[in-house]
Amino acid sequence: MELQDLLYSQGFGARRVCLGLVQHGLVTVDGALVTDPHAQVDPENLSFTVEGKDWTYHAKAYLMLHKPVGYECSQKPSAWPSIYTLLPAPLRQRPNKGGTPGVQAIGRLDQDTTGLLLLTDDGTFIHRMGSPKHHVPKVYEVTNADPVTEEQVRRLLAGVVLDDDPRPVRAAACERTGSHALRLTLTEGKYHQVKRMVAAVGNRVTGLHRSRIGRLELGDLAPGQWRWLTAEEVKDASAKVG
Ligand code: URA
Repeated sequence: MELQDLLYSQGFGARRVCLGLVQHGLVTVDGALVTDPHAQVDPENLSFTVEGKDWTYHAKAYLMLHKPVGYECSQKPSAWPSIYTLLPAPLRQRPNKGGTPGVQAIGRLDQDTTGLLLLTDDGTFIHRMGSPKHHVPKVYEVTNADPVTEEQVRRLLAGVVLDDDPRPVRAAACERTGSHALRLTLTEGKYHQVKRMVAAVGNRVTGLHRSRIGRLELGDLAPGQWRWLTAEEVKDASAKVG
């Protein structure tokens, strides 16, 4: 692959911008300065720098982000900054044949919810992880206004009716983790589902954090930080769960 095409594929801008980056001596490959935009490079596991920043080639981008409070999951947010501003420009600009450029979040978290968000430019992965048909479990740590009772846990597991659908929605798992705390696992992703389910059993969510999606855990990733998923994580995440 030509170096300028590789940069283009990784989201460094229009082809003429990528050509300019190389010609102006702003790109190194495996530690060496390369100024020929047509130089042939093997993209597989290629490490390169652009304007001094390290990059690794990824044919498709798969990442996790620790969403902080005060960000919207929309590309065009209405009141709060977008989570996409937490990502470097190339991840937001990666060309996507026929689709929206850049990575897209798989599902959304509310402005005041924190925790694990997956982002990718792979439509198949979005479908596999995001479609309700695949029942990928999502684990939420919920802080409540009032003490959590065993009766509330029982009702969340048995199923509650929300205002937009007569069919009850139930937690796939639910346990009390503190006097005011719950761990709730859902396999669907209805609008404000956790908050509405908790309200339906007579409590109120005051803090919501997603710690896990399928086999992927947030771990010690700090709020506002992102990281690439490893090839194993991508493979495992889309393997049958549950
Ligand atoms: N359920 C909610 O109510 N809010 C979220 O952000 C995610 C799940």
